[in-house]
Amino acid sequence: MTQAPVPQPGIFAQGTRSHHHLELAVRAGATDADVLDALRRLREPHVTAGGVNLVVGMGPALWRRLAPSAAPPELRDFEVIDGLDATSAPATQRDLWVWVHGTGEDVAFDTARLAAVALAGVATVELELPAFVYKDSRDLTGFVDGTANPPMQEAAEVALVPAGRPGEGGAFVLAQRWVHDLGAFHALPVAEQERVIGRTKPDSVEMDDAVKPADAHIARVEIELDGEEAEIFRRSTPYGTLAEHGLYFLAFSAELRRFDVMLRNMFGRGDGPRDRLTDFSRPVSGSYFFAPSLRDLNELLD
Ligand code: HEM
Repeated sequence: MTQAPVPQPGIFAQGTRSHHHLELAVRAGATDADVLDALRRLREPHVTAGGVNLVVGMGPALWRRLAPSAAPPELRDFEVIDGLDATSAPATQRDLWVWVHGTGEDVAFDTARLAAVALAGVATVELELPAFVYKDSRDLTGFVDGTANPPMQEAAEVALVPAGRPGEGGAFVLAQRWVHDLGAFHALPVAEQERVIGRTKPDSVEMDDAVKPADAHIARVEIELDGEEAEIFRRSTPYGTLAEHGLYFLAFSAELRRFDVMLRNMFGRGDGPRDRLTDFSRPVSGSYFFAPSLRDLNELLD
């Protein structure tokens, strides 16, 4: 089997508890040459050295403009989903996304600041979100997030465009900021919270199919495409203040359509009921990005 080019390693790097996300809009007058210069500054050693991971993703229009032959045909903007019962997933498509994650807030802050400085001439920051690993990789609801993620040896196959296709070694990215209503969620008895997720709270054991509700979160996002289970690789992290908090949902996939199907299912526009989790959390941003392979990035910037 031909090997796809090396992906951006930060997609898979583990053990970092401090995260920092930037979503940016490219200024109307910025030329391709301006954007490429800014991206070159972004990868200078002082920005990427020091035990910090930096992953960059491009919005569909920007990537197609910069590297048309390395853009998968199905890459497109995030589109709003009008869910059942007045729920919705808004679209706030941005042009660039920078994900910094490291061992502490100090290095994550410094690296995010240098990234913003590198890009300042061509793009404006529209979302800045420091985020963190909560306890043993739990969401702020208290449930472990990531249990059913593919193991590391399978993650690349789940997350990356296969060899031989445009964009090989790159990943489709879904990024959404979700705002939780923890008061409402924690008002439920733990047994009822477990019925919302479909797993037990202390140790993340999956509920038996006979008792798992059809509107449990994991029942809505376990999907099949072309007769096979279709998985994604999730790297979400909690964020926030006491006033507003939630989950920066972040996932990587070899195919864009997996995100579409999961999201439609969650909002009651798929093949079953609306995900009960959407009673307790709502997305307030939504973008698709493409995180190119290192080869495609280097070809563009060298
Ligand atoms: C408020 C937002 C969300 C929260 C708090 C949340 C939380 C969780 C939790 C606690 C689990 C069970 C443990 C695990 O396997 O990781 C889970 C599983 C999962 N979630 Fe989410 N999630 C959210 C949004 C989403 C979205 C937007 C998607 C897809 C577009 C998604 C896709 C998945 C998938 C694929 C699984 C694994 C299902 C399985 O195969 O068992 N989640 N999520």
